[in-house]
Order: sequence, then structure tokens, then C-alpha cells
Amino acid sequence: MDFKETIASAAAAAAASAFEGCTLSAEDVRAMLETPPERRLGDSALPCFRLSKVLRKAPPVIASALAEKMDCPEIERCEVVGGYLNFFLDRACLAKEIVGGVLEADGRWGASEEGKGKTVCLDYSSINIAKRFHIGHLSTTMIGHSLKRIYEFNGYTAVGINHLGDWGTQFGKMICAYKKWSTREEVEEGGVQAMVNLYVRFNEAAKNDPELENEGRAWFKKMEDGDPEALEIFNWFKEVTLADAKRVYDLLGVSFESYAGESFYNDKMEPVVQELRDKNLLVESQGAQVVDLEAYGMPPALILRSDGATLYITRDLAAAYYRHNTYHFDKSLYVVAYQQNLHFRQLFKILELMGNEWAAGMEHVSFGMVSYEGETLSTREGRVVYLEDLLQQAIAKAREIIEEKSPNLENKDEVARQVGVGAVVYFDLHNDRNKDIDFRWERALNFDGETGPYVQYTHARCCSVLRKAQEAGAMAEPDWSCVTDDEAQDTLMLLARFPETVRRAMEQNEPSLITRHTTQIAQAYNKYYFEHRIMEEGDAAGTQARLMLTRAVRDVIRTGLWLVGIEAPERM
Ligand code: ARG
Repeated sequence: MDFKETIASAAAAAAASAFEGCTLSAEDVRAMLETPPERRLGDSALPCFRLSKVLRKAPPVIASALAEKMDCPEIERCEVVGGYLNFFLDRACLAKEIVGGVLEADGRWGASEEGKGKTVCLDYSSINIAKRFHIGHLSTTMIGHSLKRIYEFNGYTAVGINHLGDWGTQFGKMICAYKKWSTREEVEEGGVQAMVNLYVRFNEAAKNDPELENEGRAWFKKMEDGDPEALEIFNWFKEVTLADAKRVYDLLGVSFESYAGESFYNDKMEPVVQELRDKNLLVESQGAQVVDLEAYGMPPALILRSDGATLYITRDLAAAYYRHNTYHFDKSLYVVAYQQNLHFRQLFKILELMGNEWAAGMEHVSFGMVSYEGETLSTREGRVVYLEDLLQQAIAKAREIIEEKSPNLENKDEVARQVGVGAVVYFDLHNDRNKDIDFRWERALNFDGETGPYVQYTHARCCSVLRKAQEAGAMAEPDWSCVTDDEAQDTLMLLARFPETVRRAMEQNEPSLITRHTTQIAQAYNKYYFEHRIMEEGDAAGTQARLMLTRAVRDVIRTGLWLVGIEAPERM
């Protein structure tokens, strides 16, 4: 099904017969086709002023000449308006093709083979050890998760990487604090929060006792030197953090192929630093080793401190090589807040200066900041919302509503989880990713209007209609002339354009395009549903067409929700 193709071929054929020697191809025409701003202007339009140079005629003349020669059963009529030739598709024909296409795709409407044989690495979530998972981490987690599904849907092999922040002097301090003031039981029980408390206590105490800082550093040195005790404690800190995070990942349905974090690269940086040296890219600056990036309008990138210690970017350089050598990626994406713009520009530039062509496949997928009720997040000042709390509250609220509205639902807990989590994920993924988000409880927990639950509900509504139809039995050949009304056609057009949105979402690494398109489909179908009866006694053929439309809507909403990481319950 590709009605643009149909129009393009017909118009190219018309051009060939109207203008002698005209070599306009269907592909050329296709690239020029526009979607009119209002549907009364047609389903598609050809701006003929774009042809007047080649054909040496005024646009309205071209439009009329083409209109006269148009010969295509799928096009009901053409209209010349100004320099435009507007096409009106035969509505029944359109319905048949679109619904047929969607149902034939069987849940894969919009999928492609574009990425076949290609690999994309996605670095997302990338949490820090001994820190709690808060709403500031939601975007990287969900954008990354969604992009992974979008790329897979387009044939790519996708590798999800959680680049853990698991190295740094703060961990020495934490071990020191743990040894002094805590016990295994306390940390096991308190989880990440217990570690956070230890760290806070350490910093408080260090204000009056400078010796403490030295002790902390000494513990970090032990970690670096591979001291078994230090590493045992640290690895256990890691386990506790990951166990906490796993609860959130499980709720969100998020997973990773690799948890290789910063510490994984401890023994992999030396060769990269050596290569930088060999390629004369390292220069000394106040005892430290840096890459000078002045020519590219950037400050120097610090690679080795004067004491030889490595940095965040040194680890990222090693990680980039490792990913290239291990996964042979075609693309490597970093879903990280825009505050790290400079870091990634420096990273990519250095890799390029080292002569790595594959660096061209790297991209920083940035996103906006999250504030909380109008103010910046601050753990210290208590202006923070932990993701687990947020999800649990959303689930509890969904549970309440279900209890009130569908007391007989069978799997209430399961549906409450799907809906509660869906509301939060939708909140995060419905705006352009670079837009800052101001987190407000009432908005994140909103279930009306343009929200996750609204879209999920529409999906469940379609499922319910289809269940009833199945019970009623009786199938017929569909009569497509019964879905030619405006509401059905608006819905169909949105289904037809869904694949294009998926493609754009991948090109721009922008899941919100899919979130919004899926919402539009839900809105259009609801409008249709309220203005038309789906099952009409004595009209088996019309009923069949409306049911098939409903099934197509259900399939595409489910796909859209899946691609942005939201589940689609069949009953709500
Ligand atoms: N852990 C880092 C942070 O919280 C994000 C890491 C992003 N990935 C990377 N390869 N640098 O800021």
C-alpha cells in the first residue's frame, strides 16, 4: 500500500503524455508531493511551480494539462487550485488499501529492513553507583529504551549499554565511612540510601577532620591497586545499587546487553593514551596531558592528570574503541543530558583526529533538564523525586481508578502496573527530547486528556469491540464504501502516515514523534467511534469494514505504544 506511489506514477504518466519529451519520473514527482493543510484541498498536492522551469510553462497551465491526462482508478478526481494540482483519492479504494496493508503487516506496520546487517550501540541510563535513581534519570532510560526498540523495528541489531559510573575517589570515601560507622546488615537493609547517608556523613565529618580526606584517598588508592578488601566492598556496593535499580528497570521493562561501566576500562586506557601520544595529539599543560582543541573552538580535553590519574573522557575514549572492536557498530548513540554537550563534542573530535572513520557514526542524543515544581533538582535540599516512589504512586492511583471504574477486572494489579507506569513514561516521552521538563506530580499522574492511559484505553476499547464482534460471529466480505466518511478517513490517513513517522523518529532519534502520532490515531478513532456505530444489524458488509478498520487501529496503537516502551493492556 503506497498511495503516494500511486499518485506519483499516475502524474508522471500524465506528464509524459501532456508534454512531449518530458522525462519526469514517478520518483521525481513523489519527492515533490505535499500534504495539503486541509483535507478539503485533497489528499495530496503537486506544487506545479516546481515544474515550470523544466517544462517552461506557467504553473496553472501545467496543472490543468496534467489534470486532463490523469487516468487512474484510485484517484477519484483532481482539482487545479492556483499552481497546485490537488488529488482526491477514491475513499473506498484508499480504505481497502490502507487497512489491507496494516493487517497484512501483522503488527509490523512501519517496520523496515533498513538496518539489516547493521549494528547500533545505545548508551543509556548509565547510572552512578551509590546514587539513587531519581526522575532526572528517567529521560535517558526511556529515550534509550525506546530508540532501541525503534532501531530493532527497522532491522538493526541493537546493543543496550549501561555505562555505569563506577569509578572515582568518592568510592574510597564511601568505603572509609562504611568501615568506620556502618555494618553489612545496615547497608543490606538500607540499600543505596544507606550508602548515600554514609557519604553525606563522611563529608560532614571531613570538614572538622582533614585527616579523613587522606584516609578516603588511601582507600581509593587501594581500589586502584587491586586490594582485595577494597574491591570486595566496592563490588558489593555495586551489587546493592544494581539490585535497587533492577526493581525500577523491571517496572519499566527496561534491559541491557551490557553493564560495562567506567571501571571496566581501567586496563583498557593505556593503549588509547599511547596512540594519542604516538599521533602527537597529547601535549603537556601544567604537568597534565591534554588534547588541544582550540582550532575547533573548544577548551583542551584533559586526558591524564599530573599524577597520572585518568578522567571521565579517558574512559569514554577507551569505551568507544572497545565498542567499535567488540560490536563493529554502524552507529553509536549516547543518550545523555545536554549538559554534557561539550564532553561529547570533544570525545568525537578526538576520535576523528585520531583518524577513526567510524567516529562518524557516533552521536550524542541529548535531552533537556528535569526540574521539580519549577526548581532545579537537589538531593541535598530534598527537592527530588525518586523514580521508584513515583512509579509506585502512579500504580496506586491507577489501582484506585480501576477499583472504581472496573471493579470486575480480572488482573487488576497487572493492569494497574501497566497503566501507572504508562502514565509516567508517556509524560516523559511526549515532548521533544531537548525541551526541559518541569516535573509536577499532578501532571505526571494525570490520566485524562493526552496521556498514556488515554491511548491505552483506546487500545482496550478496540479490543473490546473486536471481542464483541467475535462473540457475535458472522463474517462477510467488507464493503469499503462504508468507511468513506470524514472520521474514518482521518483515522485512515493517520494509519497510512505512521510508517513515515517511525522513519523520522529513527532519523532524528526522537521517540516523541511516535508518542504524538499514536495519540492522534487514538483521538481520531475515538471521534469515529462516538459518531458511528461499528456493529450495525443487517449490514454485515459495512460492519466488517468498520471492524477491520478497528483492528488496524488496534494494531498500530499497540505498535506505537510498544515503540515508546508502554504496554497495551487488552482490558482496562
Ligand atoms: N554516568 C554519567 C552521568 O550520570 C553518564 C554516562 C553517560 N555515558 C557515557 N559513556 N559517558 O552523568
